[in-house]
Amino acid sequence: MKRCDSIIELRSILKPLRRAGKRIGFVPTMGALHAGHLSLAHTLKEHCDLRVCSVFVNPTQFNDPKDYQAYLINIERDAELLEKEGVDLLFAPSAAEIYAGGYQTTVSVNEISKPFEGALRAGHFTGVASVVTILFNAVQPDVAIFGEKDFQQLSLIERMVGDLKMDIEIVRGALVRDSDGLALSSRNARLSPEGRRQALAISRGLFAAQQSFSAGERCARALEGIVTNEIINSMPNPEIDYVSLVNELSLEPLETVNGRCRILVVARVEGVRLLDNAPFHMD
Ligand code: PAJ
Repeated sequence: MKRCDSIIELRSILKPLRRAGKRIGFVPTMGALHAGHLSLAHTLKEHCDLRVCSVFVNPTQFNDPKDYQAYLINIERDAELLEKEGVDLLFAPSAAEIYAGGYQTTVSVNEISKPFEGALRAGHFTGVASVVTILFNAVQPDVAIFGEKDFQQLSLIERMVGDLKMDIEIVRGALVRDSDGLALSSRNARLSPEGRRQALAISRGLFAAQQSFSAGERCARALEGIVTNEIINSMPNPEIDYVSLVNELSLEPLETVNGRCRILVVARVEGVRLLDNAPFHMD
C-alpha cells in the first residue's frame, strides 16, 4: 500500500492511473479503524479498480474542542489494517495541509443539517460537508462509500453530491455490529463493561421494534415507544437525545411507516453519545 500526506503527491500518484482508465474508489475516515470502517473498504472493492482511504481527524466538525483533542488515532495501526484489507493508497494529511493559511470556504447542506445531530452539534455538518468536498477534490474518486451507521451524514453527502452535480457515485455501506448487537464505533472503547452492557438496550430496542413492524405495527409512535421503553427500562439514568422514525431520503419525521423508513436513535451512556438506526422497509 502506498502512503502520502500531501495533495500534490496524491494527485501525481492518481493522475496516470485515472488516465489509464482505472476506476477510483474512496473511503474517507477519521482513523481509529474498526471492522465497520474495514467493511466499507471491502464492499468498495466490487465498485472500483483502485481503493484510496483517507485518515484525517477533521477539526472543523467537532463542536466541542475537548472531543477533538480526545480523538486518539494510531496511524501505524490503521495503516496496517488497511494494508491487510488490500487498500491501494492511504492519504493521511495534516490539518495544515487541508486548511492552509487563510482558509475561509464552507459547504452547507441546509435542510438535512437542521434536525437530529445538526440541532445538537452546531456547525458539525458544515464541517463534514466542507471536508468531504475538499477530500473529493483532492482524490477525485469515481465512487465513494459512506456507512449507514451515520445515517444523517450519509443522507447529507447524497444530497450534496446531487445538488452540486459532483460526478461521484455514492455507495451505502451496511451498518456493522458486534456479535452482541452493539453498533461498532470508535467511541465504544470509552464504555466500562457495565456501560457496554447497558448500551445493548439500544440495539435490542431497535430489533424489538423491527419485530413488531414485521408483525404488522405501522404507527411511528408505537415503534419509537418500543425503542424508548427498552432503553428506559435497562438504564439507571437513561439519557435519550432522540428516537425518531423518518423517511430514508428526506429524514422527515413520519406518523406511520410509509415506503423506506429508518428509526434514528441516539442515547448517552456514561457520557458517551451512541448513534444507531435500523431500517423499516415496506418493499
Ligand atoms: P468516521 O467516524 O471515521 O467514519 C468513517 C466512515 O465509517 C463513515 O462513513 C461511517 O459512517 C462509517 N462507519 C463507522 N462505524 C461504522 C459501522 N459500525 N458500520 C458501518 N460503517 C461505519 O464519519 C466520519 O469519520 C467523518 O465524518 C468523515 C466522513 C470521514 C468526514 O470527516
